[in-house]
Amino acid sequence: NLLSVVAGVKVYPEYIANGALVVDDATGRVVDYGDCTSMLSTYGNSSAEVGNAPVQIHDYQDKLIMPGFIDTHVHYPQIDMIAAFGEQLLDWLNNYTFVTEANFGDAKIADDTAKFFLNQLLANGTTSALVFSTSHPQSVESFFNESNRLNTRMITGNVLMDQNAPEHLCVPTEQGIRDTQNIIDKWHERGRQHVAITPRFAITSTPKQLQMTGELYRSYDSVYLQTHLAENIDEIAFVRELYPNHKGYLDVYHDMGLLGRHTTLAHGIYLKTPEYEVLRDTGTQIAHCPTSNLFLGSGLFDLSKTLSYTGVSIATDVGAGTSLSMLTTLSEAYKVQQLQNNPLSAHQGLYQITLGNAQSLLLDDKIGNFMPNKEADFVVIDMGGTELLARRMTKTKSLDEQLFVLMMLGDDRVIEETIIAGVSRYKKTATA
Ligand code: GUN
Ligand code: FE
Repeated sequence: NLLSVVAGVKVYPEYIANGALVVDDATGRVVDYGDCTSMLSTYGNSSAEVGNAPVQIHDYQDKLIMPGFIDTHVHYPQIDMIAAFGEQLLDWLNNYTFVTEANFGDAKIADDTAKFFLNQLLANGTTSALVFSTSHPQSVESFFNESNRLNTRMITGNVLMDQNAPEHLCVPTEQGIRDTQNIIDKWHERGRQHVAITPRFAITSTPKQLQMTGELYRSYDSVYLQTHLAENIDEIAFVRELYPNHKGYLDVYHDMGLLGRHTTLAHGIYLKTPEYEVLRDTGTQIAHCPTSNLFLGSGLFDLSKTLSYTGVSIATDVGAGTSLSMLTTLSEAYKVQQLQNNPLSAHQGLYQITLGNAQSLLLDDKIGNFMPNKEADFVVIDMGGTELLARRMTKTKSLDEQLFVLMMLGDDRVIEETIIAGVSRYKKTATA
């Protein structure tokens, strides 16, 4: 069974019972998709359309095949301190986050964590992500090396911090920018890797560094930029203290030239109408991170208001987020919106974590659904992956309702297999 979202004049989900996805091994791309019988008659016997190799058939029976999930904001080093007790943002950063991130100049630790993290993404059905590393170039090197080996489409960069963080994590202003420049030269658009210029947030970069960050960003057409925005009340007050002459938090980034269509800002919980207008006018995207916002007690994100101005993606923000599962993340997003009388449908949610997030990252020409020639990143889902799910699914025949139950109760336990560019990289029982 296939489920994929199609974007044309309008965006709609397409479900094909007894569907088949045709993938070209040589390119790792989708050739076609449709009803199993018609795919078999077109591609099954003759090998003309898919090169000269014999056609291999993988029968997933009653499993559901979906495009791979996309996480638009996650910190890979923080997998080592996920679920740290008791603090809100600024104390959480000082007491837990910076302590863990300090280790990533060590190649062994960075390699080991990058491998573990990327395997965990695959185990959760996530095939692409926009990722924070640490301020050490080594952390980026380790991440890209492993991602390049797996052939996953990933975006990261070294975290820029030159103030208000422990000394061993701060990198001198120009040095941080030079590190980013070197990383862009080596990794940007090499294989499936992309670089994001990554100032942590307004608090941990000097004005000079933000200025240089903006100059670097504007000197490229396709390099990404990621940072954090208006997540927490004390954070916003600190930014106001540091930048008393700016109109607000977002204005600091705007003034420094950090906004644009390749920019993703995590959170954006506390914004005023003129700030939404700046997001709209610059094409800047917001990543909503529900499990993080709940875990750190940050606040309730206004999805419908933000969507009325600009593109919103949904993300885990691990290690402030409490799960790498995009299904679990949707479940919490649903609850955050329920508190604001705006229930999120299964269609909206499943669209968001596939094609919607791809669109937000400007990658929808490559990933996000099963249109011919897209890269064949997909997940095989067992809708009855837990005893509870198996039983619950028998109590309804409606596809919409089943997908909603999957969104509420699904997690890594429903992910049977994850395929990257046509190659199986994760199986529930064994690891690639
Ligand atoms: N703001 C600045 N750094 C961070 C971080 O690592 N996590 C979260 N959630 N917010 C941040
Ligand atoms: Fe974050």
